[in-house]
Amino acid sequence: MSKVTESAPANIALIKYMGKTSSADNTPTNPSLSWSLSHLVTEVEIESSSGEDRWEPLVKPGFDTPCLSEKGQQRFLKFASHLKSVWGVEQSVVIRSANNFPADCGIASSASSFAALTKAMYAFARAVQAQAPEFSLEDLSRLSREGSGSSCRSLFPGWAIWENQQAHAVEYPIPDVAHSLILLSEEKKTVSSSEAHRLVATSPRFKMRPERAKARLQSLDKALRSKNWVLCYGLVRDEYIDMHELFETSEPAFSYRTDESKKADTLVQTLWREHHDGPIITMDAGPNVHLLWRPDQLELAKEFHKKILNDMPSARLILSPHFMREL
Ligand code: PMV
Repeated sequence: MSKVTESAPANIALIKYMGKTSSADNTPTNPSLSWSLSHLVTEVEIESSSGEDRWEPLVKPGFDTPCLSEKGQQRFLKFASHLKSVWGVEQSVVIRSANNFPADCGIASSASSFAALTKAMYAFARAVQAQAPEFSLEDLSRLSREGSGSSCRSLFPGWAIWENQQAHAVEYPIPDVAHSLILLSEEKKTVSSSEAHRLVATSPRFKMRPERAKARLQSLDKALRSKNWVLCYGLVRDEYIDMHELFETSEPAFSYRTDESKKADTLVQTLWREHHDGPIITMDAGPNVHLLWRPDQLELAKEFHKKILNDMPSARLILSPHFMREL
């Protein structure tokens, strides 16, 4: 009997992957850039079993164990079967997984779960087969991309860039950032990110989208290199609004933004105006709001968290470990 456990983090894109040139292997229309959220993880356990491969929730303290939908389980098992064929694994397996954060509401749970599944199946293949070839992180990232595009960035800690078929780690002189998630809703999204990738192609704004995203990525890369935080804030905010405007001008149009997410954005803008400093703000395909802070901004962040909880009583905060001593 063999049993392995691996985990992988979610990641938040500052330049977004939205739209594909090939959905067969998730080739993106434009390059993207992300920060790995090392405190928000999926853990996957794979154990040899008998009969058909199956999925079960992983029961683990600190982890949510909601059941994956039937469709979610099938997608996970289908990709597991693809991974088995890559490494010639013949045993039947039981795959157990859980996240330590809410899934399917714009916190990139597909990124962490497919990256963790890829790492776990690789570890399983190496455990059961002496001959299993060695794969680098880049190789695993390419494979993981086929399961869920954005997961290819979750193989790398810190900053990552993904262009065409390859993602890689990138270093900037801002090596650490704190993350606060303003959790406004845990409801499952009604439009999945796979549908969103398809629908955005119908927006009139999609035609020039690759050029806009590429130009913004170039500018953000320069801004991060020169530690120009205010420029980063402006570029990343423009970028998330660009993605949400694609959704809102698709045919049919759809939206993830709510009055509450817009209120959080307004509060961030006010903070910047008053302090000439503030967090980078972005949203994924969901109503929840992500903030990134430099480590020297923790006091400012702490004050802002109080304001959020005071002005938005239904909001909950999920914070990176940087804040554990702060609240
Ligand atoms: O990997 P997918 O197909 O779930 O795409 C998600 C894409 C976004 O999260 C909306 C943006 C991104 O780059 O992560």
